[in-house]
Amino acid sequence: MESNASGLVQRLAAAGQSHLLQFWEELSPEEQAQLTLDLQGMDLQEINGFFERAMKMSSGIKQEKMDARMEAVPREVLGSVTRDRDSLKDWELQGLQCISGSKVAVLLLAGGQGTRLGVSYPKGMYDVGLPSHKTLFQIQAERILKLQQLAEQKHNVKCCIPWYIMTSGRTMGSTKDYFSRHHYFGLDKNNIIFFQQGMLPAMDYSGKIILESRAKLSMAPDGNGGLYRALGNQGIMEDMERRGIEFIHVYCVDNILVKVADPSFIGFCVKKGADCGAKVVEKTNPTEAVGVVCKVDGLYQVVEYSEITLATAEKRSDDGRLMFNSGNVANHFFSFSFLRDVVQKYEPQLQHHVAQKKIPYVDGKGQQIKPDKPNGIKMEKFVFDIFQFARTFVVYEVLREDEFSPLKNADSQDAKDTPTTARHALMSLHHRWVLNAGGHFIDENGRHVPAIPRDGAPSTTNLKDGTDLPIKCEISPLVSYGGEGLEDLVKGREFQPNLMIDQSGVHELVKNGV
Ligand code: UD1
Repeated sequence: MESNASGLVQRLAAAGQSHLLQFWEELSPEEQAQLTLDLQGMDLQEINGFFERAMKMSSGIKQEKMDARMEAVPREVLGSVTRDRDSLKDWELQGLQCISGSKVAVLLLAGGQGTRLGVSYPKGMYDVGLPSHKTLFQIQAERILKLQQLAEQKHNVKCCIPWYIMTSGRTMGSTKDYFSRHHYFGLDKNNIIFFQQGMLPAMDYSGKIILESRAKLSMAPDGNGGLYRALGNQGIMEDMERRGIEFIHVYCVDNILVKVADPSFIGFCVKKGADCGAKVVEKTNPTEAVGVVCKVDGLYQVVEYSEITLATAEKRSDDGRLMFNSGNVANHFFSFSFLRDVVQKYEPQLQHHVAQKKIPYVDGKGQQIKPDKPNGIKMEKFVFDIFQFARTFVVYEVLREDEFSPLKNADSQDAKDTPTTARHALMSLHHRWVLNAGGHFIDENGRHVPAIPRDGAPSTTNLKDGTDLPIKCEISPLVSYGGEGLEDLVKGREFQPNLMIDQSGVHELVKNGV
């Protein structure tokens, strides 16, 4: 081995990771150079420390004990779009005022690998098959653009909502390239700031870093809680400070209904003087794969679906609702000063969670093996693990059918949270917007299709792959952010069941095509 790499050999030995060079002599000079570079960029002692602490924490979690320490969210910290109707307008106005003063930023967590969806490109680039074929990124960009316009019109000032986008080593290039090819969807490119989260190696159960091939370590993003370290080491907090940002809405890429920079949510948090807030929907099915916001030992936290026993998930209150029913939709509010404290003070206190995985590895002969049972761990921090540090924490409950339909899995007969369910959720919401604005849909005999009562709305979760909704309706976010401004276009009018409303007007689509 080259002498300039001898320091590396010693470092690996000291960290008990010498096996990473076991195929050194067989590697090409390019592979040797790349492996050296990868290893030089790693703090092996720190990684070993992460491993020890994460394993200790995960083996220390006694499930029954955790369940006994959980408490539901108290009513005092809860705002609800259904139970607090009288306050909604005030909250929205407050939020719009903050936006008009350019004090609000949005921050997108888009560093995940989309493993369950099974695509090789970033999830935000996914087209769920809407009539417009807009991707998740485009829908979100257009909502930001529209909200800027709404705030500007209301307050008669120019404003901007900067969009911070966290990617990972795997998704950065393709994400940036995609935005550039689409001219940033009409947003000012200077107000879209990409930054990159860290990666960590996968380890076997004895703490050895796993080699994915003879020359390559098995690496994965360090979880969406990798956000806080990335904010600190890439100058993002300074950028926010320079722009005068006071409030930040953080959200995940996969929810097609996400109300980016939702003024009501922001206004609610600001009016309550909160430094940290979480948006939730009521969890109604005990086995649904959402985390629940609750208190553990008196501190706010999200307990993930994988960390709760079925017995606890099934517990009900006297009113028959699930006791732990604050389903986390991965939409969070932070004040700038809280986020700065987290980045500067609390981040190192966050522990990595351990996920046991089947991790491809090379055997002693250099052959890659794909194991059929878990053989190691990936370590991840979670974005919500900082709730515990909040001084004033609030929870905002919204309606699932209006705001939450995540894209997690590929279409298949029994899968949940698929492109089909996401597409249906969006079109069924837009259908209701048209009805609320006084429009009607008519069937082939010219009769009004009855307005669908909320309870009887077509379920967006149990329609099979490929099944069409009876009414297909898509409204461009550039026309309406949250159902507003549609009366002039639809009131008193009758439409065929295939409707698209965009900036060029109202279009009735021919069935199965535009
Ligand atoms: C997440 C929430 C869960 C919530 C559910 C709602 C976390 C840890 N869990 O679960 O409580 O009920 O969404 O849909 O937030 N990401 C990164 N970097 C990473 C890993 C993920 O940026 O290293 C991003 C993904 O791109 C995605 C988001 O984080 O936007 C959520 O990741 P995902 O793995 O889909 O989380 P879930 O397990 O579905």
